[in-house]
Parts: sequence; structure tokens; C-alpha cells
Amino acid sequence: MFSNDESNNPSNNPSMQDVIDTCNHQRRTLLKGSIGVATWAAFGGMGLSTGALAKGGQGGSAAEPLIGFTPVSANILPMTDMVSVPVGYSARVFVAWGDAISNGANWDPATAMTEAQQLQSYGAHTDGMHFFPFPTEPARTGNMHGLLVSNSEYNDPGLVHHTTSYVSDAMTAERVDAQLAAHGVNVVEAFRPARNGDWMVKRPSRLARRITGKTPMLMSGPAAGHAMLQTPADPSGMRVLGTLNNCAHGHTPWGTYLTCEENWNGYFGTADAAFVQTPHEKRYGVSKGGFGYRWHEADPRFDVRAGGQTSNETNRFGWVVEIDPFDPKSTPVKRTALGRIKHEGAWVVVDDHNSIAVYMGDDERNEYVYKFVSARPFGNHGDDRSNHYRNHLDDGTLYVARFNADGSGEWLPLVWGQNGLTLENGFADQGEVLIKTRQAADRLGATMMDRPEWGAVHPMTREVYMTMTNNSRRGNTPVSSNQADGTTGAASANPAVDAANPRPDNDYGHIVRWREAGNRVTATTFEWDLFVQAGDKATAKTLGATYTPGEFGGQTVGYEGNINGDDFGAPDGLWFDADGRLWIQTDQAGDAQGDWANIGGNGMMCADVTTGETRRFLTAPPHAEVTGVVTTPDGKSMFVGIQHPGEDWTTSFTQNSTWPDNGANGPTTASASGPAKPRSAVVVITKDDGGVIGS
Ligand code: FEO
Ligand code: CA
Ligand code: CA
Ligand code: CA
Repeated sequence: MFSNDESNNPSNNPSMQDVIDTCNHQRRTLLKGSIGVATWAAFGGMGLSTGALAKGGQGGSAAEPLIGFTPVSANILPMTDMVSVPVGYSARVFVAWGDAISNGANWDPATAMTEAQQLQSYGAHTDGMHFFPFPTEPARTGNMHGLLVSNSEYNDPGLVHHTTSYVSDAMTAERVDAQLAAHGVNVVEAFRPARNGDWMVKRPSRLARRITGKTPMLMSGPAAGHAMLQTPADPSGMRVLGTLNNCAHGHTPWGTYLTCEENWNGYFGTADAAFVQTPHEKRYGVSKGGFGYRWHEADPRFDVRAGGQTSNETNRFGWVVEIDPFDPKSTPVKRTALGRIKHEGAWVVVDDHNSIAVYMGDDERNEYVYKFVSARPFGNHGDDRSNHYRNHLDDGTLYVARFNADGSGEWLPLVWGQNGLTLENGFADQGEVLIKTRQAADRLGATMMDRPEWGAVHPMTREVYMTMTNNSRRGNTPVSSNQADGTTGAASANPAVDAANPRPDNDYGHIVRWREAGNRVTATTFEWDLFVQAGDKATAKTLGATYTPGEFGGQTVGYEGNINGDDFGAPDGLWFDADGRLWIQTDQAGDAQGDWANIGGNGMMCADVTTGETRRFLTAPPHAEVTGVVTTPDGKSMFVGIQHPGEDWTTSFTQNSTWPDNGANGPTTASASGPAKPRSAVVVITKDDGGVIGS
């Protein structure tokens, strides 16, 4: 019931330095490879099949292959209940749900979580994350000391309250508050006391912080203060409590963290017998029962018909939230210019002209890919972190993508007054266009995608990759589309296969990539292709008889996929390291059964996008998703999130997993007393010889 995943049940100055490094790195690499940006643009349609961009920077000489490790085996039945990494690497638990992040005691997982305990502890269901080296310390130290900022996407109420009868227990405000506190964002001070020592959580920490479902936040941008954002508790429409379902993330060159609100609709519900979805609620999947959290029974904020009125509280979620991790007193800001969808993440790029773009996906079946282009250039590369309140993410244009069958693409502007985004079609102003981003995109004829999850931007070329995790409705009959008037319910259409989503009942997912015209993030056209269609080379599953493979220029393949290397499916997390290795994290049921018997549980792959090779680097415990990955700037310490080990238990908490308190990846704060329940946790991976991860 509480699975969040439709596939399971129906430098000195951190980010500033990243930009400078990326620019320098790009120039170095391009020089090294004797290939210029103009040349790169010319072969864009070929999908970067040259090896000229393969190598540069910190990983070693051009003669070394980008990927150097021996792959781990698939975690097939009988599954191992641990995180496995290649020979020569170690993976140790860094922080787990309930561990104190500053002052105070660690949670005892054999007890129920309280709001007070949770507010001082690492949140539930860890997800996207970024590592911010300290801005005031020498670059070398940034590899041993920084802020690990991460999302806590959702929670399993049974594990929170230590009960097997949550669905029938009386709902209380205390329970809602404990769960609200389990959500949100974690700011953890991470340090490594010695060069080869274990990473630790610095306690106490002046900078440690929990941001939760109740933290006061501001709205900014064109929709701030809009009538549709006003509530009885906040007539201004400007002051919101909390962020929810923080899935993936982004980070900006001005040193801030972006957290993205994904399946926020699931927390709302109502006992109102007269409840009928408005078209707007239907388009976003706001329903009577939600996902079964039942918060509305004890907290009217989550009742969509509180007092018999249609609530605007739902409109205050579905945004991208900007946070300054180095100022623990700062107020997070919901940036409405980036649209209101089920935001997976927000990937920021600055191009050679200092133009800023943010790439985003709306993760639901048949939803869209978006790009925000800021109206304000990124000053110059001498700017500092004071940029972060210059509101680069408030003024600009939001676009939605159309992927044409010939490999071209268009960014369609979601601008009030243009392309039918007018009052007569239900959009009174730009604020309403943004609050109803999905309906606006429907009207523009955007391409329905197979659940856009994470994006990643190649550090040298700025080619953008995005995972399409799966789509059980693709190719279903009767064929239908999201209607231009915005009346189609969330995930209810049956889109035909198309060039960018070429498989019916897309079980294993694929990765799309695109190249902006002229390598400018402000471009309104792009070229795209499919990097990979994931699959199982040994599967006996075949495409439906009514479908003709090869319909789109021969790019369609069956469920065997076209992976060059180790098989995987349901790609979700995606990240490029500084050398250009593409890290692919997966999110399927994780039980190594059925369609996943050969692929096994979830894992993390490493791909070389120039050769197309994919190698399995990590496997996760049973019923766990792998989500969230980042390294220190030197690439030698990697943080990886392991979410919901043992999910979908029915009889006991530990039915499917006892990780991490089984001690399989080193001691935890609770391993001495034995595992009471599985806990989401972040592991830190190092190479035994101290080298770059993946090399
Ligand atoms: Fe929270 Fe789409 O994954
Ligand atoms: Ca999942
Ligand atoms: Ca995800
Ligand atoms: Ca997913």
C-alpha cells in the first residue's frame, strides 16, 4: 500500500567550483581529444559514438579504460541481504534512518518513532543527494569534509509506528506529526578523520538540519500569492508548511540544493462522502483515499474537502524547493517558475554563454519532460554564493518537450497568452499556467513519456540523459492520449508506441538523451536518440502479437533489450561523475522474481557512454531500491542511497530484509542489539587502493 513506486504495485566554493571545474574540465578534455564544440554539435545526431571524449581529468591517462572494475554478480534467488560491490571496494553504512545527526540519542528501531526523536534524526526512505564540500576550507579538505544533503522521500507507517495494524489503528495527530517529520531533507555534516579512515557523521554539528513536512517555506515566482495557492491558514498564498515526497534533487552553481516534490498527491484524502474529483484534482491524481496514509483523518490540512470546501492545500505541493544548506536558519523557497508536476528532480546546467537551464521530468505514466531557462545569465564565473538570493529561478521560461520521430525535438513554451494558454481555455494568468502545468503541457502537444525519472548532464559535452523507468500502459488498447483540454486523469491514457517510447508494456525502461541545438541551453530545438533500451537478454517474455517491432527505423527491440554488457531494468537514478562515467540506479520490485529472475534485485550500473558498455557495480538487499549517488570532488568516496530494504512485508517487519542492522555492511547504531526492522540507509564506498570509484 505504501510503496511509492508504480512498478511494484499497479574547489573551495563548492558548487561554484563545480561549474569552474566543469568548464575547465570541458576545455581540457576537448583539447585533449582534438575535438571542438562545433565538431561535437555536427555529429550530435550520431549520439556521440566517437571515443574522442572518453577520458579526461582525474581518472588517469587517456590510455586507461573509463571503467576498470570486475562486475558483481546479479543478486538472484536466494538473495544476499547486503550491499555488494566489486572486489577491491568496500561499502559501509554511513547513516541510517533514525541515527542522530547532531545532538541527541540514536533511535532504537525496536520502538515507535516519535516526532521529537525524528526531528533530531536522519529521515526515512533516503533518496537523491548531493555532497557540498566546505566553501571555506582548502579544496583538498573538501574531499574529507562536507555537507551531505539528501532527501527523505516517504515512509512506511508500519515501520514508523512499529505496528503491523496501521491500516486499522486509530489515526492520531501524533502519528501524523511523526510521519511529517520523517519526510523532507537531511543536512548531515560528513567527515573523514584520516585519509583512509571511515567516514563519520560529525556530531554535534552547527549545520546539521532536518527540513520536514512542517518546516515553514516561502513561495516565489509567478504563481506566488495566486488565489489558487491561498488557504484559510495562509490567505497570502505565500507561506507554506513543509515539503513532501522529496524524490530526486539538483544543485545550483550558486551553492544551493534543490529538492523536488513527487508523489505529494498520495498524502491527501477525505472522508467526505460527497467527494467528487475536480478535473484539476483528477489530472494530478488527488483522490479520496490517497495512498492510504490516512493523515486527513487527524490533520485537516490533508483533507481535500476540509469544511466541505475544495482545498487549495494540494496546489502548494508539486514544486521545486531551493535550500541554502550552509545557512541552517534560511527559509526554503518553492520556485513556482519551474512548474507544478510530480517533480522527480531538477538538473541545472550553465552553458558557455552563462545561460542557465534546469531539466526536469514528471514521473508518472504518460507525463512529460520539461526545461526551465532562466532569464538571468549566471553573472560570470567570478560570482560567489551570494548569487543564491538573486532568484535565478524566478524569472524565465518553462518549456515542455516534443520528441519527433525523425530524431528532432522541440521545446514548447508554457507562456500565458500563447499557444492557447488563454482564459477561454482555463488559464487566467501565468500563475495558473504554472499551477496547472500538466494541463498546459497537454494543450501544447508534448510527447507522453514512459515515466521520466532522473536526468544527468555529461560533464564535457552537456548532452542530457534521462531515464524512462517503465510504462505498463504504453501500447495498451484502446489507444488514447492526454486530452488537450486537460481532462485526462493521471496515468489513465493508453499512448501508442512512438519513436521515443518504442516498446509496448515497457517493463524494463530505457534512457533517452538529447543535444541542444548549437549546444546552447536556450535553444528551442534539439536532437535526440535512445542511449539504451534496458532488458533481460535471457528472458522468454515477448512483445505482444499486435505490435510490429522495428516500426521506428529499426530502433525497437524486444524485452531482451540492447544493453552492451550486464543486464538491468527500470532505470531510475542517473548521475555522471566528473570523468564522464554514467551511473545508473534501478528501481523495480527488487525480489528477483518473475520478469526479474535473471536480473535479480536492484543495483547500480556504470556505463561508458562512448562505448555503450554497461557494467554492474553494486547490488542491493532484497526489496530495496538504489537511489541517490554522489562522490567527493576527487571521485574517491562515493555515497549511495539504499531505500526501503524489505519493502512490502506482510507478516513481520523483517520478512524480506534485516539490512542494515544485520551488520552485513559494517556496524550500525543498532546492530549490536540485532535488527528490529530494515532501515533505509546511505552507504559510503571507497576503493581499497584509495583510487577513483569506477576506475
Ligand atoms: Fe521517487 Fe520517480 O521516483
Ligand atoms: Ca521503489
Ligand atoms: Ca526515483
Ligand atoms: Ca522509480
